[in-house]
Amino acid sequence: MTENTKNTSIWDAGGFGDEDLTELALQENAILNVRKLVGEISEMKGRPLTACVRSFGCQMNARDSEKLSGVLLRCGYLLTDDEDADLVIFNTCTVRDTANTRVYGRLGQIHHFKKSRKDMIVCICGCMPQAEGAAEEIHRRFPFIDIIFGTHNLFRFATLLYEKLSGGGAGKNGTVIEIWKDTQQIVEGLPVRREYPWKSGVNISFGCNNFCTYCIVPYVRGRERSRSPREIIHEIERLSEDGVIEIMLLGQNVNSYGNDIPGGMRFPELLARAAEVPGIERVRFMTSHPKDLSDELIDVMAGSPKIADHLHLPVQSGSSRVLHVMNRRYTKEDYLALVERIRAKMPDISLTTDIIVGFPGETESDFLETLDLVRRVRYDSAFTFLYSVRSGTLAADMPDQIPHEIAQERFDRLLTEVQQIANETIARHVGKTMTALAESTDPKEPGMLSGRLGNNIMIHFPGPADRIGTMVPVRILKQHGFYYTGEIAE
Ligand code: 5AD
Ligand code: SF4
Repeated sequence: MTENTKNTSIWDAGGFGDEDLTELALQENAILNVRKLVGEISEMKGRPLTACVRSFGCQMNARDSEKLSGVLLRCGYLLTDDEDADLVIFNTCTVRDTANTRVYGRLGQIHHFKKSRKDMIVCICGCMPQAEGAAEEIHRRFPFIDIIFGTHNLFRFATLLYEKLSGGGAGKNGTVIEIWKDTQQIVEGLPVRREYPWKSGVNISFGCNNFCTYCIVPYVRGRERSRSPREIIHEIERLSEDGVIEIMLLGQNVNSYGNDIPGGMRFPELLARAAEVPGIERVRFMTSHPKDLSDELIDVMAGSPKIADHLHLPVQSGSSRVLHVMNRRYTKEDYLALVERIRAKMPDISLTTDIIVGFPGETESDFLETLDLVRRVRYDSAFTFLYSVRSGTLAADMPDQIPHEIAQERFDRLLTEVQQIANETIARHVGKTMTALAESTDPKEPGMLSGRLGNNIMIHFPGPADRIGTMVPVRILKQHGFYYTGEIAE
């Protein structure tokens, strides 16, 4: 197993020039080598080789999967949605235990395919194998997996694939296993295969420095590293030239963007610049940590019609005591005051959040604080999670872990509340005309289009398929729970 701790620094003081050209050249070379082998195997089989990339978890992972797909396409594979392919990659999530369980379930199914096709290549990468000791466990439990790698060396996929195709690694059954402890490397310029022609995620930073006590992300994604503003804006310009009209800036905490680049650009300016790129019609971003959300950001959002009227602002708990133990570094009052400042400038903004129920030591009165906060903020929607023990985090060793039945009972009460509030809250838009990015036709109802509004809510409306991939003005006629129906307003 390779352990990388060399931490080559690739920043300059202004945050520019962070391209790692040597690594890019190495990977391009590896792609050519794989392509040659893929060509040979495909000639032998008399058919093209197929590859399937399965993504679990967050938007970051979805973007990483687009990078893996880009590499595979250049390597000569035909991309397919069918897991019974010549090569399958599971790009995994481990933020909660349920994410692991889901992948384990898929692996069982894949084993079945692999038994009948010995030359199938199965890869697992991302957050799950990056967790302490997990790669070894995966290798022990699923020895048929061919390539295991983590988050830090994702850009080395072509090299690892070449190693496997040209003879195999040192693990049992020739498994190639490479997990790096951390990295400072950001490799720009590798191929990407976007899932949608009209919208794209754009990474602005990788990793997280916050160490919320329940969260495994800082351990599996490493310390926060910001991409240079120049690279980000260049990427958005290239995407726009390629037909993209909506982008989502991605970081575990976009509000601390640039903190690692002394004197460098901060998020509000980056966001403003992104919105100015010609051809880009809508800019989204996620995720915002409340402790770092500045008034400057609020002003930039309020001042630009291209920035989506939506803020995902995870609160996690409404109890200041629990927030302190979670290491969130704000109180319930700070959060409510922030919401007030945001709404003072953007009265109609859509606010969404993440909430964890059953954090160690959470009492009934802590939980009531969360319910009270939810009632006061009145979110447009909220993702609610049962606390999940992540080994290696501080919270995993805290006393007073909450019994499942109690956590579940609180979870159910919270869910009822957030759903009822969301139902009432999003009704405020009925009758308005807003802009939707039309994204698909409804297979069940021909002639109906589905699109997403700036506030992130889906709307279905009659319209021609050639409007897909464009911004469409729509009148909202009716609310059906969490989506609307409407009509084109032209
Ligand atoms: N248990 C439950 N939920 C968690 N999250 C992160 N870690 C955990 C955990 N251990 C949630 C947080 C975060 C979202 C992405 O996942 O609410 O905002
Ligand atoms: Fe996890 Fe907290 Fe970082 Fe979000 S800010 S990724 S919850 S440690």
